[in-house]
Amino acid sequence: MAAEKELISILDEHTIEVRLPNKLGYERIAMACSASFAKIVGFRPERIEDLKTAVSEACINAMEHGNKNNPDARVVITMHYGDHSFTVSVMDQGKGMGNSNEPLEEPDIEKKILNLQTPRGLGIFLIKQLVDRVEFNQTSDEGHMVRMVFRMTG
Ligand SMILES: Nc1ncnc2c1ncn2[C@@H]1O[C@H](COP(=O)(O)OP(=O)(O)O)[C@@H](O)[C@H]1O
Ligand SMILES: [Mg+2]
Repeated sequence: MAAEKELISILDEHTIEVRLPNKLGYERIAMACSASFAKIVGFRPERIEDLKTAVSEACINAMEHGNKNNPDARVVITMHYGDHSFTVSVMDQGKGMGNSNEPLEEPDIEKKILNLQTPRGLGIFLIKQLVDRVEFNQTSDEGHMVRMVFRMTG
């Protein structure tokens, strides 16, 4: 079917894709897949931990905010390795977010611990700290996408 075909990106040995139902907890599947792929292509163990955290936060945001917890929605994670970089795109079927490409006000961890600031709002902050480059609000055939780039070193 042509419509279905368009939804499938080209896969080769540099590219893998994981399609998840919109179920909280299943972001762990994407974390595990990204970790194994990154290990195969030679990431250092500490960097794999950064990657897992960023992938997890992006998937949870896709499920909660992008797909608004709709159990019929999908999250599609595409991972591509090449040109000394590892790119993870997380797609949801929502409309994207405000101006998250703008610098964010830093969350105050002390205040959060003391309950003086909402415990929410750490995901994007963490992603920005952990990845080498991130682009929010990209669009694709399937909807809204966050693209995170990890440079390969050494
Ligand atoms: N995939 C997304 N689609 C739409 N809005 C999003 C998405 N990801 C994040 N957002 C918006 O950005 C805000 C901040 O996200 P985040 O820092 O992860 O904090 P939290 O998820 O705890 O609210 C969210 O509250 C939401 O409004
Ligand atoms: Mg979040």
